[in-house]
Amino acid sequence: MSGYVLRVPPTIHYGEKASSLAGAVAKRFGTSKVFIITDNFLASSGAIKAVTGPLEEAGVSFEIFSEVNQEPTLAHVTEGLARLKQSGAGAIVACGGGSPIDVAKAVSAMAVNPGRIQDYMGADKFEKDGLPVIAVPTTAGTGSEATAVTIITDTERDVKMLISSPRIMPRAALVDPLLTLGMPKGLTAATGLDALTHAIEAYVSRRAQPMTDLLALNAIGLIAKNLPLAWAEPNNTEARGHTMLGALQAGIAFSNASVALVHGMSRPVGALFHIAHGVSNAALLGVVMDFSLSGNYERYAEVALAMGLPDLGEARRTAESGAARVREIIRQLEVPSLTQLGVTREKLAPVADKMAEDALASGSPANNPRLASKAEIIDLYYQAL
Ligand SMILES: [Fe+2]
Repeated sequence: MSGYVLRVPPTIHYGEKASSLAGAVAKRFGTSKVFIITDNFLASSGAIKAVTGPLEEAGVSFEIFSEVNQEPTLAHVTEGLARLKQSGAGAIVACGGGSPIDVAKAVSAMAVNPGRIQDYMGADKFEKDGLPVIAVPTTAGTGSEATAVTIITDTERDVKMLISSPRIMPRAALVDPLLTLGMPKGLTAATGLDALTHAIEAYVSRRAQPMTDLLALNAIGLIAKNLPLAWAEPNNTEARGHTMLGALQAGIAFSNASVALVHGMSRPVGALFHIAHGVSNAALLGVVMDFSLSGNYERYAEVALAMGLPDLGEARRTAESGAARVREIIRQLEVPSLTQLGVTREKLAPVADKMAEDALASGSPANNPRLASKAEIIDLYYQAL
């Protein structure tokens, strides 16, 4: 059969105070108790009240697991699953950046499917729907609230496992830009550039389709125009709102059209050098775009136009201006380079081969407009330093 499929959460509430619907939405799933997965900062700063307050008002009891303080690993899933089972909760509320939401998806699926999370690496392996997950993002980046994807680091093999299945799609997303107000500049940059990467990769992906194209192009425009403003003015409500809407659209776009070479190469950087996902994407985005442009100048030219750049009359030139603008945004947002984060040629040399192999094995590079060989991927890693 030819055609397209677009999978999205059944309910998405977007807007200021959307998080105040947490109680009402939880009740819709017919449970009187939820398991909240979050991080220690949100739990201890009181920010978690954005969801616990509405839950209390609706008479829904909860237990909080606040140990997802870094990008998810096997241990978060094992511990979270054990605590969920003890709690007896019938649904999960995930509140935080992509990490708590990704852990929630994995825990929800493992609550009803046998074996270990490692058994489900790849696509479409779960046989049963997970427990309902209500995702409440507090960053504008991963789009995890609207994707059927979770990334869990297998610390035994130093591999960031990509696990995708419609069965882990959040049942509801409450996307409230007020939760991102005041976010520190470094986190705003890393998460926002992750979202921009999602939108660009979804648009140029070989699996792009008409419905994801609309979302991806709109997201590129929203993020390119508003992210620098949200970064410079952390309490600018309008810029925060537009950036978060862009991140949501980018999430839906890439969840259905897939990401490509940047993400494929970025995961091994995170797994081996423990560098935040958005930062490793930002480090790779410029060099990978330059490498990839010739694979589809037309699509990359449309990326440039979506960012508000003029049509230079020739797809190649317009595409190149878009890549230059992306580099400028990354520079403007003062994202640290891989070298500044301690990744030197000497440290890269012994692991570059494994990184390129893991990148290719993830499948994402196969969606890139220009396919890269293992040797080319290794070369791109060095160029990104
Ligand atoms: Fe990403």
